[in-house]
Amino acid sequence: MEQLNDAVSWIRSNHPRRIAVLTGAGISAESGVPTFRGSGGLWKNFRAEDLATPEAFARDAALVWEWYEWRRSLVRDCAPNAAHTALARLAQHDELEVSVITQNVDGLHTRAGSIGTIELHGNLFRVRCTREETTQEATAPFPSLPPLCACGALLRPDIVWFGEALEPEDINRAVELISHADLLLIIGTSGLVYPAAGLMSSLQRGISMEINPDSTPLSTSCDFVIEETASRAVPVIVDAILEVAQ
Ligand code: OAD
Repeated sequence: MEQLNDAVSWIRSNHPRRIAVLTGAGISAESGVPTFRGSGGLWKNFRAEDLATPEAFARDAALVWEWYEWRRSLVRDCAPNAAHTALARLAQHDELEVSVITQNVDGLHTRAGSIGTIELHGNLFRVRCTREETTQEATAPFPSLPPLCACGALLRPDIVWFGEALEPEDINRAVELISHADLLLIIGTSGLVYPAAGLMSSLQRGISMEINPDSTPLSTSCDFVIEETASRAVPVIVDAILEVAQ
């Protein structure tokens, strides 16, 4: 609580205008989307690292797709929570430059109304042809698994898997936005998966606030460590920023 008050005081004194936000699975936890690590993070005793890889897909595409269909069905039934909607509200202020950079593939920032969210790891509701590399939206459940493209090749989730490179355009943009930020909010990420976890080192003159009930490897580098859940702390931070925005 004290940390949250201190963060609010800093905002009131410093009027941050360029805000970069880096989010992870924890921001969607209160929407009912399980995080990857911690309780509820396993599916049939598999870890994400066992399934979210090109090797796992080459070995057993149906198994990998079964996991994604389970996640897609979970997320379809979830709604953005107070943290997602507060961030969307922030971005609507004309005088502020707000960018949301997420590791999440659940699309909840966009559903909450955040425009231009950088989805570093892709989106659960988009697929890619393994032969043609074309992508398409795919929101409805597939009648059978693994799904095939019209060309006959396997479709895969349009997700960046372990061992694959992020889109250079996304990572470059994220670095640029963070390097110019007055304030970086780091919300609900364990800070264990790179390159996303390394993005905070791009911060130049701005300050960082971590919002996470647990400490992470990023905590020691953050200026403010707010040990609260996202839905509790993010609306308070957003209200403070909006209150002092010109
Ligand atoms: P993790 O599951 O590793 O970490 C979730 C973090 O959220 C933890 O630090 C929790 O303490 C925190 N948390 C839990 N509940 C919270 C709440 N209500 N409010 C705020 N924080 C909360 O998720 P990520 O860091 O996003 O990649 O994981 C990074 C990547 O690893 C994911 O994008 C995914 C995964 O494997 C791929 O699938 C490619």
